[in-house]
Amino acid sequence: ELNFFFPAEQTVAVIKPDMMDQKEEIMRSIEEAGIVIQAQKTVNLTKDEAGAFYEEHKNKEFYGDLCSYMASGESTFLVLSANNAVEKWRNIMGPTDPNEAKTSQPQSLRSKLGKDILKNGFHGSSSVEHALKSIEQIFGSSMTIRSSKSKSLMSS
Ligand code: PPS
Repeated sequence: ELNFFFPAEQTVAVIKPDMMDQKEEIMRSIEEAGIVIQAQKTVNLTKDEAGAFYEEHKNKEFYGDLCSYMASGESTFLVLSANNAVEKWRNIMGPTDPNEAKTSQPQSLRSKLGKDILKNGFHGSSSVEHALKSIEQIFGSSMTIRSSKSKSLMSS
């Protein structure tokens, strides 16, 4: 294994408004899966901020509903780090639609805790590129592995 020499992949996990009362248990189960939580931020996004976060869906018919929902209360944003973090977290969440998750991935978080396709409990970045964009929006660019690494090299 050469993992030691490479920085792990990062992804962004979001614990959505309806799931906030179970935040602590969820974070514990993420860590128990061998994922490192590098940063955590709880915010109530404005509708515009939610719109920017979900920009990739701006032409979808559900975009307005999704942004309103995400602006309806606090969410917790997490920077996760692990090998294959994007895929790992998406597997733990299960399919976008909790109803589909109940049949295809009954052990997943969305199967167990999600309500419907809008109130599906959790978000995970769809790619490393989207993860970096979300990290920069929510946490600022110093949180990405690449920039924090170059920073520490420059300051040492
Ligand atoms: S897509 O079209 O395949 O890219 O969409 P998907 O990845 O399945 O879903 C992206 C997010 O959009 C939300 N979504 C919806 N919200 C409301 N109504 C409908 N019909 C709907 N379909 C998708 C869904 O909750 C996904 O949010 P995240 O936060 O990424 O889980």
